[in-house]
Amino acid sequence: MVNRHKDKALGQALDISGAIPENSPISVTGTDFSEIKNSEVVVISASVKTYMKGRMERISDQVAMIHDIAKKIKKFAPDSKILMVSNPVDVLNYIFQKETGFSRENVIGVASSLDSNRFRYLLSKELKVKSSQIKNALVLGEHGDSMVPIFSVTKCNNKPVLELLSVSQIDKITRELRDYWKVIRKFKGPSLFGIAKNTVDVIRAIIKNEELSISASVMLYGEYGFSDVCLGVPVQIGKEGLIKIQEIGLNKYEKNSLYQSAEVVRNYLLTEACQIT
Ligand code: LAC
Repeated sequence: MVNRHKDKALGQALDISGAIPENSPISVTGTDFSEIKNSEVVVISASVKTYMKGRMERISDQVAMIHDIAKKIKKFAPDSKILMVSNPVDVLNYIFQKETGFSRENVIGVASSLDSNRFRYLLSKELKVKSSQIKNALVLGEHGDSMVPIFSVTKCNNKPVLELLSVSQIDKITRELRDYWKVIRKFKGPSLFGIAKNTVDVIRAIIKNEELSISASVMLYGEYGFSDVCLGVPVQIGKEGLIKIQEIGLNKYEKNSLYQSAEVVRNYLLTEACQIT
């Protein structure tokens, strides 16, 4: 674990070490960048300061931070797979790839799978069913206020949810989904468990080569009609990182919403804060 405040990394490592099961081969240490060499996977979850209003609130600080982190990872672990958790994840994913030249297969933004799990939870609450009765809950686009829940592919007890929900319920769920992280922050501070579980899923898929199909932020080269932007799309992940981007059918409203979401990310990339220095 690496942190600009080394004591924080040491303290976290000591705390987690108390949770390592008896027969587990792992060890956790607080250290500095030089020790990440030969890492198979590097997870970036750093944040300069906390934010309350929006994930883009600290964009200048976060972009400056990611430039610094990117240079160190390129130096010490140039062959690692990168999991970007820091926000704004789509923007930082893009900046990291431009700064390091890492291939898009090796840089995955963990975000939309968390949004998809939240979407499933909100649907189960609204439809008064168990979460397990909701299948293929999928969220694409920016991991932010423009994220796009794909109602058209989601089912509840094998019925399309679009046949079960009114327009006002769809609007309500979309609003609750986009504000989900703000409610967590208001009640307890930054989210931890949801993003941790979704990150571990991707780590496991890579290090154990257990293929995983989720939505995640990756660089697009024409898929869904977008190029040179990172966005949450359906992907397959395995030992080699990003294996494949799955292009699924979207209805007209979802296509338009995804286009709007891509424009939001692209416009942020054009701001001064994101110019590659
Ligand atoms: C959230 C953070 C991980 O959505 O962006 O809780």
